[in-house]
Amino acid sequence: MTDQAHPAETSTGTEAAATSRVLLTLAHPALERSRANRALAKAAKGLAGVTFHDLYETYPDFAIDIEAEQEKLLAHDVIALQFPLYWYSTPALLKEWFDLVWLHGFAYGIDGNALAGKRLFAACTTGGAAKAYHAHGYNRFSMDDFLRPLEQTAYLCGMVWETPFVVHSAALKNDEDLKEEAGRYKARIASLMTTPADAEMGA
Ligand SMILES: Cc1cc2nc3c(=O)[nH]c(=O)nc-3n(C[C@H](O)[C@H](O)[C@H](O)COP(=O)(O)O)c2cc1C
Repeated sequence: MTDQAHPAETSTGTEAAATSRVLLTLAHPALERSRANRALAKAAKGLAGVTFHDLYETYPDFAIDIEAEQEKLLAHDVIALQFPLYWYSTPALLKEWFDLVWLHGFAYGIDGNALAGKRLFAACTTGGAAKAYHAHGYNRFSMDDFLRPLEQTAYLCGMVWETPFVVHSAALKNDEDLKEEAGRYKARIASLMTTPADAEMGA
């Protein structure tokens, strides 16, 4: 293992976590056909302090290396998940990654505190419009509702749940729109590296 864990500097909530390292975990099964996630990833992956990790490229056969993934998690302070919303949830490999890697005794349970104090951040694109993700919209529930399993996972593991980043109506966005979203995303990832977790609330 080359990159070793270092203590999160967000523990007191006062000092800026200028050295926080971000594990940008991308889960898109067909990135070559993606517009939104490709634009977002391209903008954020070059930032210093960001480790870009493309799950479908690494594990096209779903044979996840559990130990390597746990080491990656340990070596970062911010775990960022970027994915298109598929059937109101994550793409299958991201779910498989949770099932296999976030184990009892590692991520949760007695002595399972390896991720405690780290930050979990979800960045998600949707086909549906923002107004559809509403009690009166055709999707009936909010994005916060659909992301609740991830939020609760963070809670169970003693992590800080960051306000999600969402791009709606992805297919309707032109290149200029996507460029703007990508800039917004890059700034948000940069802020996760430099801002104490508690200052992020309501961002
Ligand atoms: C299998 C599948 C399931 C999808 N499920 C949803 C969904 O539940 N809600 C939604 O708003 N969009 C859904 N979409 C649309 C994608 O979220 C959208 O195409 C994607 O976010 C666009 O990002 P990309 O350009 O990076 O592929 C789905 C698309 C596919 C292929």
